[in-house]
Amino acid sequence: MSRQDGLLEGAAFLRDRVSCEPRVGLVLGSGLGQIADLIEDAVAVPYADVPHLRASTALGHAGRFVCGLLSGVPVICMQGRLHPYEGYTAEEVVYPIRLMRQLGAERLLTTNASGGINTSYRVGDLVLISDHINLMGGNPLTGRVGETGGIVTPDMSKAYPEHLRAVAREVARGQGVTLREGVYIGVLGPSFETPAEIRAFRTLGADLVGMSTVYEVIAAVEMGMEVLGISLVTNMAAGVLDQPISGEEVMQVGARRAALLTSLIRNIVAEL
Ligand code: HPA
Repeated sequence: MSRQDGLLEGAAFLRDRVSCEPRVGLVLGSGLGQIADLIEDAVAVPYADVPHLRASTALGHAGRFVCGLLSGVPVICMQGRLHPYEGYTAEEVVYPIRLMRQLGAERLLTTNASGGINTSYRVGDLVLISDHINLMGGNPLTGRVGETGGIVTPDMSKAYPEHLRAVAREVARGQGVTLREGVYIGVLGPSFETPAEIRAFRTLGADLVGMSTVYEVIAAVEMGMEVLGISLVTNMAAGVLDQPISGEEVMQVGARRAALLTSLIRNIVAEL
């Protein structure tokens, strides 16, 4: 079966189960899955049920789509994402994003947990992603042939468009939430970085580091989606503070700040 036929099969399966035609796709990162609890008329579909979709094994990831209404807007939400560090290929990681697009989502609101490289950030800060650096080691579009028969080469110069970031800033201001802004560098993981790597990433212009998002955004841009990314700083990156980094800490900070991020996202979606 061709890649395209597989996608159409997966999309047909999902469309049969969910009743809504989503306008917005939401990706909920580590410890941030509870936003899905606010979705009305929710229909959940485990990833394991969807043809060609790999199950999510990462800590704090439920591994299912939830479709319904958030702030009155039809959304499809990924409660948990796939990561390259789980052993999935770049193409497998972005397959659910392709499904969301097939179902109709035109915008992607993606969240993640990250380590703060910018020393003015604090644990618990919410950061609007202004741009990214792809250091994940691959690209989900490798070998992907477009409609004209050539390899696709999408322009990434406005991957996180200013007009969507302006909406997020405005909503945050209205809520009294401080929203920082910065560049996200995506790495493969699963080990956390060394202090030397973090110093190097700072020199490269990165403010945040994480193990997700970049492939999803590349695929979304190629499919013509507009992307808004919000990162939760769950720890300061390696070497910034003289203390170890743990996956548990990432989850705990996620849980502590989830209510704030949840209300922010709900209000942003209302404006999309
Ligand atoms: N590094 C990479 N990924 C992360 C981190 C980090 O410090 N924190 C949360 N995700």
